[in-house]
Amino acid sequence: MTKFLVTGSTGQVGGPAAAALRAGGADVVGLTRSGGPEAVAADLVTGEGLTKALTGIDTVVHLAAGNDKRDLPMLRNLTAAAKAAGVGHLVMISIVGCDLVPLAFYRQKVELEGIALASGVPLTIQRATQFHTLIDQVFSVQKFSPAIFAPAWRFQPIAPEEVGARMAELAMGAPQVRAEDIGGPHVESVRELHAEWKEATGSRRPAVIFRMPGKMSAGFTAGVHLAPASSFGKQTFAEYLAKKYR
Ligand SMILES: NC(=O)c1ccc[n+]([C@@H]2O[C@H](COP(=O)([O-])OP(=O)(O)OC[C@H]3O[C@@H](n4cnc5c(N)ncnc54)[C@H](OP(=O)(O)O)[C@@H]3O)[C@@H](O)[C@H]2O)c1
Repeated sequence: MTKFLVTGSTGQVGGPAAAALRAGGADVVGLTRSGGPEAVAADLVTGEGLTKALTGIDTVVHLAAGNDKRDLPMLRNLTAAAKAAGVGHLVMISIVGCDLVPLAFYRQKVELEGIALASGVPLTIQRATQFHTLIDQVFSVQKFSPAIFAPAWRFQPIAPEEVGARMAELAMGAPQVRAEDIGGPHVESVRELHAEWKEATGSRRPAVIFRMPGKMSAGFTAGVHLAPASSFGKQTFAEYLAKKYR
């Protein structure tokens, strides 16, 4: 029986990915820094505990992240240990259009994809659009501002739970290097997303939607971070908000 390791199994994508694999009857162990009843303890940044965690593992679903520079040593350590352990499939997440927007975090995503590709471990990379939680956060963090400021871009937000389920589905299949990009059910303007957020949260603060100059903004304005051909997700941003703020 294939044995799966899900890194970041306490995370917003890793949790649902591990749950979806278990629901399908798979043999799954999670990986977090503190471990737990269904997870081994290992630190991907230092590599501590990794060799033991990968013993007997056939497929790794990599969803652990610090969402900062630590993600590079984390993946380097993971791929080196996975290669040494003879892992047959590494499934990892990335971001739609990360190679087309000159943003430091996106450049790092491209670097991470390159590390995985060069590792020699059979691979599937799944790029996804922005999560509902991220769009919500963009508005929510401005809680002390008299208005909500946001650039005039569009987004195609997707539920992290649905991304997790997709990662599980890919893990149960054969390596395909790059899976087709996935996004949420609708592409919406920031103005529309803010209106939904305002309605759900009861906020009375207006939106100040501004045009941002520069190449980074030009990429987002052109919509290179969208996947309109693949509206994989079912839950809309409004449905996510209604559930969270009811
Ligand atoms: N947000 C978006 O819109 C979006 C869109 C596309 C792709 N993504 C990508 O989706 C991935 C998941 O991100 P997320 O924000 O959803 O993650 P998250 O919920 O913050 O979860 C991060 C997970 O990583 C684990 N972790 C962190 N540092 C670790 C370490 N040193 N060793 C072992 N485990 C560690 C955490 O476990 P412990 O803390 O318990 O150790 C936790 O389970 C990221 O690669 C992100 O870039 C995000």
